[in-house]
Amino acid sequence: MDKIIIDGGARLSGQVRCSGAKNAALPLLAATLLTDQACILENVPRLKDVITIGQLLGKLGSRLEYQDKSTLTIQTPHLDAYEAPYDLVRTMRASVLVMGPLLARGGKAKVSLPGGCAIGARPINLHLKGFEKMGAKVSLEQGYVLLEAERLHGARITLDLPTVTGTENLLMAAVLAEGQTIIENAAREPEISDLALMLIDMGAQIQGIGSDHLVIDGVESLQGVKHRIIPDRIEAGTLMLAAAVTGGDVTITDCNPNHLIALSVRLRETGVEVEEGSDTIRVKSDGQRNRAVSITTAPYPGFPTDMQAQWMVLMSLAEGTSLISETVFENRFMHVLELDRMGADITIDGHSALVRGVEHLSGAPVMATDLRASASLILAGLAADGTTEVSRIYHLDRGYEHLEEKLTGLGAKIRRVKA
Ligand code: EPU
Repeated sequence: MDKIIIDGGARLSGQVRCSGAKNAALPLLAATLLTDQACILENVPRLKDVITIGQLLGKLGSRLEYQDKSTLTIQTPHLDAYEAPYDLVRTMRASVLVMGPLLARGGKAKVSLPGGCAIGARPINLHLKGFEKMGAKVSLEQGYVLLEAERLHGARITLDLPTVTGTENLLMAAVLAEGQTIIENAAREPEISDLALMLIDMGAQIQGIGSDHLVIDGVESLQGVKHRIIPDRIEAGTLMLAAAVTGGDVTITDCNPNHLIALSVRLRETGVEVEEGSDTIRVKSDGQRNRAVSITTAPYPGFPTDMQAQWMVLMSLAEGTSLISETVFENRFMHVLELDRMGADITIDGHSALVRGVEHLSGAPVMATDLRASASLILAGLAADGTTEVSRIYHLDRGYEHLEEKLTGLGAKIRRVKA
């Protein structure tokens, strides 16, 4: 298995480009199943998860072709199959995003029920409850969810929790349903707005974009589209914290600072300078220890759970004690024990972690457990004294495009060793 080796201590500086958002690309690719016409996606990140959803679409009848390294044409003249098999769902839970489009366009779907996950239970009951309200018959057979409906009808759906992929799935189902659907307590992540905007360009009727109250008037059919995927706010945020933990001065280009406000506000509180341009963010640290700042993760526009592990690295080295509370997932502290092995002083108490800042972290062999945990270990390695060896980095490849190259361009001493 590949490993990443980091010689810590380099102060990062320079410019780095932000890639397209993984968590926007996945629902956008799934949404192309809603039409038989060609859809062109620009700013597609070349990631393992994007390859996986591409494979899934291929099994369902889509033809995918890259025009250049980040422009992808997808066309699904006919749905040839209706199944998201266990092997794909097991490697990527977001495969469940094909449920809404398959049901809306083809009237049926058979999707492997995702099992447990390293960061929490992550059930899909709210997706299924919503589909049922829209008239789908839902049953469970040998680990698969079977969904069937002649044509979905509009419904008023109040989500118990603002689930991101749940909102996306129901939105994709509702655009072709008969009549009006209202999704209340919808998630408001920018990736959902990106999906809604593309659906509108395909001919859908959606109001309330960016709010927790989406109103969708179903249409008979949708057409092809050309759409540019929004920048990856979590990648940008990770690079911002890479600058902060190394006492660096880094400008991230091609990003959307408005999507990163919760992070920028907290980062300034730690004493780091954050300068926002229209599509750039500069993070500049004076190299002094940062102040400890507590955070609580929350759905957008709150502090993203996908930045919690990376924030913990900054807090591990801060002056003072901070509390990091995780409210979105119940088990997202797998990185803590690895960080403690590098000399951090973190204690978990239920859904919170008490982080007592230390002066130095020291390099060590560590193991990645999920995507964002991997990113946190890379940041810890950049800031630590000595050499850090991060294994199980296949997690990282699911969601960060060319991370080692990007960090190397900023002066990091980081390399991948092929197994
Ligand atoms: N939940 C339920 N029932 C459901 C759906 C969700 O109880 O039917 C619970 C989950 O167990 C969790 C909470 O609701 O405790 C929120 O989960 P959500 O459904 O919003 O998460 P998701 O849609 O599965 C997306 C991102 C995650 C990100 C979360 C939260 C994609 C493909 N994935 O997951 O991204 O952490 O929203 O913002 O968009 C990542 O990129 O590393 C990642 C994990």
